[in-house]
Amino acid sequence: MKICIASGNRGKIAELQKLLSEYITDIEIELVSLKDVGFEGDILEDGETFEENALIKARAAAEFSGLCSIADDSGLIVNALGGEPGVYSARYAGEPCDDAKNNEKLLKNLEGIGDRSAAFVCTIACVIPEGQPLSGDPIIGTGYCPGEILFNPRGKGGFGYDPLFWFDPFGKTFAEMSAEEKNAISHRGAGVKAFAEAFNKRIAEEKEKLWKRYGL
Ligand code: IMP
Repeated sequence: MKICIASGNRGKIAELQKLLSEYITDIEIELVSLKDVGFEGDILEDGETFEENALIKARAAAEFSGLCSIADDSGLIVNALGGEPGVYSARYAGEPCDDAKNNEKLLKNLEGIGDRSAAFVCTIACVIPEGQPLSGDPIIGTGYCPGEILFNPRGKGGFGYDPLFWFDPFGKTFAEMSAEEKNAISHRGAGVKAFAEAFNKRIAEEKEKLWKRYGL
């Protein structure tokens, strides 16, 4: 099955291809990017939740490509800040996006606050055009990784809020982990797994419908 990924990021697509082929074994999956199908523009992500944004992107990709389409949206939510930066994670300190400025703003907003609990969230949404195999309601999966926001950055790896995000079970920030360590516990890994489970459920339901049609 050909699936369009609403992203132009080659690394993201390669990683998704690997993970989805591991988890979804009933059908063969071939991922193509929006660029591969000739899409050039930008998609306006003006949703208020990760799910809304993932759906906006997946719908736009499905409409343009006519293919089953997948999009993800992720970010950081901080309890004491009412869920901020949330869907504004990439541009928390304004445009153009700047990781260092975002981290600075986060530390400033948490000054004097005792509760530093936070979580990374990743939602993956899939929209299948009507009339195609597996079509129906969008298929959605969400993954979380709970942690805490440090007072100072630690570590040189990763991106975004990684240097401030402390993951206690490993005794490290995300920026101090190897890619393998981060993948094993990250919101993205959990999101892909949750999504694949929901996708596999849709495949099972479709098969059952087929058997029923033959009175079995
Ligand atoms: P995206 O939806 O994956 O593009 O993520 C949006 C923003 O959330 C990024 O620009 C980062 O600021 C933040 N973010 C998402 N995932 C991570 C992560 O694994 N580490 C650090 N920051 C992240």
